[in-house]
Amino acid sequence: MVFICLRVTTQTQFLYQPNSDSYCKKFRTTSPKPFPSYHRINIYKTPFNLFQLQTPFLQTYQTMLQMDTLPLLLTLAAALLSTYFLWFYFLARTLTGPKVWPLIGSIPELVVNRNRVHDWMTSHLRQRGPSPTYQTCTLPLPFFARKQGFFTVTSCPRNIEHILRTRFDNYPKGPRWQAAFHDLLGQGIFNSDGEKWLMQRKTAALEFTTRTLRQAMARWVNRTIKNRLWCILDKAAKDNVSVDLQDLLLRLTFDNICGLTFGKDPETLSPDLRENPFTVAFDTATEITLQRYIYTLDPKFREIPTTITMISYIRIIYYIVIYDFLHFFYPCIIRLLYPGIIWRFEKLFGIGKEEKLERSLKIVETYMNDAVSAREKSPSDDLLSRFMKKRDAAGKPLTASALRQIALNFVLAGRDTSSVALSWFFWLVMNHPAVEDKILAELGEVLTSTRGGDQRRWTEEAVDFEEAERLVYLKAALAETLRLYPSVPEDFKYAVADDVLPDGTAVPAGSTVTYSIYAMGRMKSVWGEDCMEFKPERFLSAKGDRFEPPKDGYKFISFNGGPRTCLGKDLAYLQMKSVASAVLLRYRLSPVPGHRVQQKMSLTLFMKNGLRVFLQPRQLQPHAATSS
Ligand code: HEM
Repeated sequence: MVFICLRVTTQTQFLYQPNSDSYCKKFRTTSPKPFPSYHRINIYKTPFNLFQLQTPFLQTYQTMLQMDTLPLLLTLAAALLSTYFLWFYFLARTLTGPKVWPLIGSIPELVVNRNRVHDWMTSHLRQRGPSPTYQTCTLPLPFFARKQGFFTVTSCPRNIEHILRTRFDNYPKGPRWQAAFHDLLGQGIFNSDGEKWLMQRKTAALEFTTRTLRQAMARWVNRTIKNRLWCILDKAAKDNVSVDLQDLLLRLTFDNICGLTFGKDPETLSPDLRENPFTVAFDTATEITLQRYIYTLDPKFREIPTTITMISYIRIIYYIVIYDFLHFFYPCIIRLLYPGIIWRFEKLFGIGKEEKLERSLKIVETYMNDAVSAREKSPSDDLLSRFMKKRDAAGKPLTASALRQIALNFVLAGRDTSSVALSWFFWLVMNHPAVEDKILAELGEVLTSTRGGDQRRWTEEAVDFEEAERLVYLKAALAETLRLYPSVPEDFKYAVADDVLPDGTAVPAGSTVTYSIYAMGRMKSVWGEDCMEFKPERFLSAKGDRFEPPKDGYKFISFNGGPRTCLGKDLAYLQMKSVASAVLLRYRLSPVPGHRVQQKMSLTLFMKNGLRVFLQPRQLQPHAATSS
């Protein structure tokens, strides 16, 4: 039997049995409890509740209890919901980005814009006017909303300088990134913070400034161009078949970075474009590792149809309501609540993607161990051989596993970035013939002075190191490409402690700060009214004879900034100049009709459908000022 104890004054309480009409006992609060279990409600003496107590209040309460506990639960739920909505209201008032919804935050807008995430972020940043920073929440739940669910997105140069340089120690890569990448990259330079990172950075920085490393890069690139790239392109031009230039470039840069890092060229760029087991395993391992960090949607059948019919409406509703919910919202929420729970679970039981990752990592490990042993037997001028000569803090040589990790980190850092930049460069040049003419004019001038007027000699070999150094307009065109299409469009940092950015934005500890390199290049406030135009002249001195990046180093951060600036920047420019000139001097490129160039939503700005082009042999005019 249920009794309710109503405490009316500090001294008096009534014991009340719900099914009867009146209270059954009045007793003092200090007296022993009359029954072992009863509900007690405190109603202190006020004129209002004394009046209510007599009849209506007790009757209402009695009715409620007679209806069993469901209404009680409903009341409780209503109270909780009201409290939540009140809390959410105050949270939402502090957010400045996309619309946030209770429980699911800004995820709906993210899903709707999943095929144009970079442009979507840019448009929100633009709306913020002179201070392009917004804050959003993907997990509006108490305790999570200001930690892993909270994102500060910025493209303000002063904020980025603050994150990358001034308060560098407060913004490491963070535990989530490191945990996801640990199996592939260990504690290598690309995946470490603090002392571990600093030690490697110092060692590597010394090597990257040497001229011999740049010469080694020039050798690897030129060999690949001469022996393989030109053969493939010549054949395609002769047969008048199209090629996927992005695919060829990805293969070329992968071969180069492997050659430079551990002195072994896997020759993935070959006439038959065959698959190499190491490359396949490395690609698989990288992709699955990335999926541990970001959740990607299966792109199959997901294009929004151009003609809207009843069936296409049903398909859209199906994808958004069912497919996206199951495949995106659910894992997203689980991932946000417990980062890493899905992959850790799969890893524990060796199932799903983690099983595939483990198999791929074994292949990569074996390949790298062979490379380390080969270099031990015959050292060369590659990065691995250089690191073999180094000693750790205790004066001992680095272990085979440490060397393997170092090599893998460099391969990952330098593999796709240059090829992706080159793909966008060729696409922009195809669409800007005036820029193409200027590039050819500069090439003609430099090559005439180094190789003479016989134009056949210009395309016998790719440009060498000294010639590449003189190609300032080409370098400006590559930098301009990276401004509009940065190979790394966004980067993420973890906030260790509460902080305030220079524009006044408060960043809570444990949250994520995203800086959009892509948006930065498209800000009128940073690059002026013509920010969307492709104008290499932006990166030239007034006379046009020198490459001149912006004085404010945090306006152009395609190679990152501060202590973690890209180590391979000079090598990348050298490689890109060699490939760009090798292709443009020999061929005229034209896009395959109907081919759609689109961005792929990933940590690297790939072209989703590749870059399909036709090639025609180029007839250079005297001094190559113009071409046909
Ligand atoms: C167009 C080509 C390239 C672009 C746009 C680029 C861009 C970047 C960016 C944005 C970062 C910062 C990543 C982060 O901390 O999250 C980075 C770091 C790095 N890059 Fe590059 N990169 C390019 C080519 C290369 C090449 C060819 C190499 C090696 C040969 C290389 C080696 C590295 C290394 C070692 C780091 C890590 C630096 C550190 O954490 O201290 N990069 N790069």
